[in-house]
Amino acid sequence: MRPACASLDAGALRHNLEQVRRRTRARVMAVIKANGYGHGLPWVAQTLDQADAFGVASLEEALTLRAAGIRQDICLLEGFFEAGEIPMIMAEGLTPVIHEHHQIAALHAYRGAGRCDVWLKVDTGMHRLGFAPTEVEAAVGALRTLATVRRIGFLSHLACAEDPGSEATIAQVACFARLPYPELPRSFANSAGILLWPATHGDWVRPGLMLYGVSPVGAPVGDAPLKPVMTLRSRLISVRRRERGAAIGYGGDYRCPEDMTVGVVGVGYGDGYPREFKTTPSVLVRGQRAPLVGRVSMDMLSVDLRGVPGAAIGDEVVLWGAGLPVEEVARDAGTIPYTLLCGLTQRLPRRAHP
Ligand SMILES: Cc1ncc(COP(=O)(O)O)c(C=O)c1O
Repeated sequence: MRPACASLDAGALRHNLEQVRRRTRARVMAVIKANGYGHGLPWVAQTLDQADAFGVASLEEALTLRAAGIRQDICLLEGFFEAGEIPMIMAEGLTPVIHEHHQIAALHAYRGAGRCDVWLKVDTGMHRLGFAPTEVEAAVGALRTLATVRRIGFLSHLACAEDPGSEATIAQVACFARLPYPELPRSFANSAGILLWPATHGDWVRPGLMLYGVSPVGAPVGDAPLKPVMTLRSRLISVRRRERGAAIGYGGDYRCPEDMTVGVVGVGYGDGYPREFKTTPSVLVRGQRAPLVGRVSMDMLSVDLRGVPGAAIGDEVVLWGAGLPVEEVARDAGTIPYTLLCGLTQRLPRRAHP
């Protein structure tokens, strides 16, 4: 069996939920869309059994959770895409976000059984999804006439919360605070909002990234560190001496500057490890850093083992996670940790540990 796998630490996931709770009294909707940010949807939900609700991106994800026995509220963060989803939403007790008029019209036209709660999405400045603040009263009025709608809440999303001095966030907060109907529950904060903007906590926070132990600001925030849930691991499958001038891998663009030991790690872009880097990344071999050399292949990559005396075939290699933050690998790759976590491919086994 290939040695590459993502090992998953259930204790770390629960610890990170506790870190959310330490920072807010709001209820917690754990955002677990995109296959639980690559960690595996049912596993994340089952491990986070203390979350008050879950947020997903599609009916398919919600049904996967229900099939796995998840009974908490499940919010469809983009609502439904077509009216044909409504009967299933009612049957499974899901909570859609309503962000467009056609969704209200579809609920109006629905003649089947059941009622649902909804979140009305308000565009406070991100300009992606949601009703403009000037449309909110009419939208609430329309939803209140529907027998199919039970409770209504306001939900909005922060565009720039990673920046602690963001004027845009200050404007979004002011806009959300001006909405009518103070009695309706509100949900605003993502991870960065939870960590940096207490004024956004409202009634329900929606952490994603921080639950997985990753900082949305690229560095730890505050005194209670998050713990990485996923460690991407593999092993050395070859260790060989290469002569000075030897070209390593596809294209041969790396040439050994001296006689040196080069290891081959059994992981590649076919597993979701990035292929393009702005700065040379390192992996950990025997706890020591070993820089990548040459191009990343589909199933393998090569590393410079000059800093790891005694490295041998079978040694464990950490690509990110415990001891090597995914934030750092993302920076080297010129991307964000979200894309690395969500980009892990299906063939990579996830192995959970209690
Ligand atoms: C609507 C919504 N809420 C909350 C989140 C969670 O964000 P984060 O992972 O930054 O905490 C997301 C993630 O993209 C989202 O789209």
